This record gives sequence, C-alpha cells and structure tokens, in this order.
Amino acid sequence: MAKPSPAVLNLAVIALLIGVAAADTSSPAAYTNHTVGATTGWFFNATTNTSSADYSKWASDQSFNLGDFLIFKTNSNQTVIQTYNETTFRSCITDDALDSDTFEYDGGNAIGEALTVPVPLTVEGPNYYFSDADDGAQCAQGMAFEIVVKHGLGLPPSLNQPPPPPYVEPPPSDSNQTTPTSTDQQQTFYRAGSARGANVRTGVFLFLLCGFWVLV
Ligand SMILES: *[C@@H]1O[C@H](CO)[C@@H](O)[C@H](O)[C@H]1NC(C)=O
Ligand SMILES: *[C@@H]1O[C@H](CO)[C@@H](O)[C@H](O)[C@H]1NC(C)=O
Ligand SMILES: *[C@@H]1O[C@H](CO)[C@@H](O)[C@H](O)[C@H]1NC(C)=O
Ligand SMILES: *[C@@H]1O[C@H](CO)[C@@H](O)[C@H](O)[C@H]1NC(C)=O
Ligand SMILES: *[C@@H]1O[C@H](CO)[C@@H](O)[C@H](O)[C@H]1NC(C)=O
Ligand SMILES: *[C@@H]1O[C@H](CO)[C@@H](O)[C@H](O)[C@H]1NC(C)=O
Repeated sequence: MAKPSPAVLNLAVIALLIGVAAADTSSPAAYTNHTVGATTGWFFNATTNTSSADYSKWASDQSFNLGDFLIFKTNSNQTVIQTYNETTFRSCITDDALDSDTFEYDGGNAIGEALTVPVPLTVEGPNYYFSDADDGAQCAQGMAFEIVVKHGLGLPPSLNQPPPPPYVEPPPSDSNQTTPTSTDQQQTFYRAGSARGANVRTGVFLFLLCGFWVLV
C-alpha cells in the first residue's frame, strides 16, 4: 500500500480536529430544568424512615450548568436548604451556620401542602441541598445531595442582575475631603467561569498532534 502524501495526512489531521470540536458537548445548547428525584419528587417517608429516592444517585446522573433550575416537587413536610458550605451541609442543620451561608426556599404554611420550588443555579462549583426538617433527621436519612455546577452557557440576563451598589454620600462641594469609594463593598454576583473546558480541549489537541508525529 502506498504511503499517504503529507497533504493527505494534513487533511486527516484537520478532519480529526473538526471532529473533536464537534464532539465537544461540554457546552449545552439550552438551559435545563432538573426535577429533583425525577417522578418521585423530594419526599421523606416517615413510615420507612428513608428518603423516597436516592438523591445522590439521581444527581450523579445529571449534568448541571449555570442558569439551569432545580425543580423540587415536594410538600411542606420537607424543606429546601441551599448552601455552598460543605461543613454546613454535612452537619444537616442550619443552627450553627452563618446567616449568609444558607438559604431556605419558601416552604409554605399548611402541613403537607403541595409545593413546587424552583431553584436557579447561579454559582459555579459545588452546590449543596438538604432538608433540615425533623432537626436534621431527614437529611441524615438521605434528604441531601451535592451537585457541581459547570459554566455551560453562563447566566442568562434574567438571573444575572447584580444587587444595586450601596449608597455613597456625595462629596461635600466646599472641601477636599476624600470620600470612601464603594468598589470594595460591591460583591461579585457569581463566580467567574473556570477555564477547565478550554484546557481539556487544548490537551486533546496537543495529544492528537503528538499521536500523529509518532504515526508519521
Ligand atoms: C424552568 O423553570 C423556571 C422556573 O420555574 C421557569 O421559569 C422556566 O420557564 C422553566 N424552563 C423550562 C424550559 O421549562
Ligand atoms: C412510605 O413507604 C411505605 C412502605 O413502602 C408506603 O406504603 C407508603 O405509601 C410510603 N408513604 C409515602 C408518603 O410515600
Ligand atoms: C431512623 O433511622 C436512623 C438510622 O438508622 C435512626 O437513628 C433513627 O432513630 C430512626 N428514626 C425513626 C423515627 O425510626
Ligand atoms: C462554613 O460554616 C462553618 C460553620 O458555620 C464556618 O465555621 C466556616 O467558616 C464556613 N466556611 C466557609 C468557607 O465559609
Ligand atoms: C406530613 O407529615 C405529617 C406529620 O408527620 C403526616 O401526618 C402527613 O401524612 C405528611 N404528609 C405527607 C403528604 O407526607
Ligand atoms: C484643598 O486642596 C488645595 C490643593 O491641595 C489646597 O491649596 C487647599 O488649601 C485645600 N483646601 C482645604 C479646605 O483643605
């Protein structure tokens, strides 16, 4: 068999690289709503003393991105607590947590009242969810899961509204007094995207290139 010409090899490399780019599915085409526990929903079964679904297993089968929603189909017997603090998550209770560390989504009032709780994913990296009902017993029995939120398409404008900057008193007009600037008080609304995806792509590119050197 004749040895392929360098031009043919070059074309092969280009075709392969295009293929790799096309197969890179790390960026989703749209935002996704993930119903927690799928058809089972977010429930604790007090009779069996267990969570109604394996929520960690459910979470491990999904891919989460900024701008996606978790949809908790539940009732007011369970709570939905969000935290980014793993210590708080492991403790299963919010009592010792800093106020800024946990967020409880509105749980309704009447006992057993059906609820649908949409939770937007606005922070990249580990996000933790649990129910702190029954003094943490629900959480200890499986009403807890961790997800890792990736950048995906980034936040949509509807979720990317930074809080208004804090009020700063105007400087007095007849003095040279310097007023403190507000910049250090402003918070970054969400963490900047990681460059991990780009690094993986570069890695694949270099790996393929090296592979071809060896073959040629
Ligand atoms: C996802 O859930 C949010 C919040 O309930 C809703 O505004 C949005 O329309 C839903 N998106 C889809 C694709 O169902
Ligand atoms: C709890 O589990 C028991 C036994 O599997 C079942 O009969 C019951 O319907 C469950 N209750 C709820 C609220 O899912
Ligand atoms: C539920 O199970 C846990 C762990 O097995 C146990 O410590 C707890 O006492 C049980 N609660 C009830 C109400 O049965
Ligand atoms: C997490 O929460 C614990 C307990 O409230 C606190 O001591 C710790 O500083 C928090 N960690 C971070 C990274 O905020
Ligand atoms: C909610 O909890 C109460 C008290 O434990 C129980 O009687 C009721 O059946 C529960 N409701 C649902 C829908 O699980
Ligand atoms: C304001 O600054 C100027 C120049 O630095 C100085 O000459 C003037 O005395 C200052 N005025 C006051 C009220 O401090």
